[in-house]
Amino acid sequence: MKLSLVFFFAVACSAADLTGNWASGNVGADGVARKVYFDLKQDGARITGHIRATQFYYTIKESTGDAASFTLTGAMMDGKSERLVRYEGKLEGDALQLTTRRNATAQPAKLTAVRVPAGEGAYPARVPPPALHKVPDNGLAKTPPMGWNSWNKFAGRVDDKSVRDMADAIVTSGMRDAGYVYVNIDDTWEGERDAKGNITSNKKFPDMKALADYVHGKGLKLGIYSSPGPNTCAGYEGSYGHEEQDAKTWAAWGIDYVKYDWCGARNLYTDDEMQAVYQKMGDALIASGRPILYSLCQYGRADVWKWGPEVGGNAWRTTGDIRDTWDSMANIGFKQDVLSPWAKPGHWNDPDMLEIGNGGMSDTEYQTHMSLWSMLAAPLLAGNDLRTASPAILAILTNGDVIAIDQDKLGKQAHRAWQAGQQEIWVRDLAGGDRAVAIFNRGTDTAAVKLKWSELEMKTPTQAKNLWSHQDEKLQGPELTTSVPAHGVVLLRVR
Ligand code: GLA
Repeated sequence: MKLSLVFFFAVACSAADLTGNWASGNVGADGVARKVYFDLKQDGARITGHIRATQFYYTIKESTGDAASFTLTGAMMDGKSERLVRYEGKLEGDALQLTTRRNATAQPAKLTAVRVPAGEGAYPARVPPPALHKVPDNGLAKTPPMGWNSWNKFAGRVDDKSVRDMADAIVTSGMRDAGYVYVNIDDTWEGERDAKGNITSNKKFPDMKALADYVHGKGLKLGIYSSPGPNTCAGYEGSYGHEEQDAKTWAAWGIDYVKYDWCGARNLYTDDEMQAVYQKMGDALIASGRPILYSLCQYGRADVWKWGPEVGGNAWRTTGDIRDTWDSMANIGFKQDVLSPWAKPGHWNDPDMLEIGNGGMSDTEYQTHMSLWSMLAAPLLAGNDLRTASPAILAILTNGDVIAIDQDKLGKQAHRAWQAGQQEIWVRDLAGGDRAVAIFNRGTDTAAVKLKWSELEMKTPTQAKNLWSHQDEKLQGPELTTSVPAHGVVLLRVR
């Protein structure tokens, strides 16, 4: 009797023990399961272990309670800052019922986790980064890359059809002839790896090679996306440990452009190791034998502009993600001044993709966006739905005079030459001695700006073409007074 009571208690306790591997999440419509994994060890009132969710891998540093009701706080280092996650949960029957919040004000998200075999979802071991060397130049992007990217408008909804539609629309809208040639698939195309470790595309992309053939058939090029980490930002399969293999697969599909996003690599490497980690894919792309434009995406960390060319990078992000608002665009764009010395043919600063046409800004603001990005010699990757773009939006994106500034062969990025309050003048040297002069008004009222050529360290020009009105400005000697709309720009090409 006594013994069976002890046995009963032992069973009851172990059944209520959280120790083990748990997973939450189902296979999505794209055929990919992006699960949240809990690897837990309960020791009385203390729960330790790890939580793996999308690109993140947390170590549990605090816990309260037990199976009946518990909280877990996970932490991880992301560069120099600590990132936290918190779950509240309880064991109900065989499943964990959990809630978490993105931030203090967000609605709680509910999830159910069930037991999975030991080791499922285990985080891969760290591969030490290689020694540094210089990756050979691929000779691409002599002017900033131009094209379209799926993320800003479609995010996880991008699929084979939308990419084909966009390729069609780039041609019929005149975008291709204006210079937009790359059609870039961002995150969420990835499937599982096959038995040999080859990356596959998920159900949204039934045949990448056929898609590449289609895009190439239109005189366009196809781009793709991955991460040096085990997972991408959206939690799909990254290229970690498969760098050469993935580069070969992409080359075989006919890929022409790779955006390589730090994401899950943050769990394994410090920012000081970024260069070596990016070098690995730089080498792999060269070894693939196909000319593939290499775009680094690590949000401008670790002074990437100093080593981007060394790893074979044709462009590197200089900021976090843009949003379709004036504040986001302006805060990014007008901060780029200090980086101008680092841009040069083959190697560009990338202040992120265009939001033109996505609806969060006025046409005047989108003109400013286009003008500023062109002054910055930035990659011009449209991020809107080209099937439904209005004539006004297409006119902004395809303004040949403005594009000619962006694509100028000299490859010199503009600098801020003058500023007073909300008004700024940026100047860009162009091949053949012309200059681009952009008079920006960041204020919310129309402003009359008096420009003195001498203050811009320029001689009075003989000609000044307004690149949005396509008219020559009347030159008035040593000064030019011009009216600039709120959040607008007057963009000149002067001789
Ligand atoms: C990061 C990048 C974005 C986009 C998403 C995709 O946030 O900075 O540009 O690629 O990942 O998940």
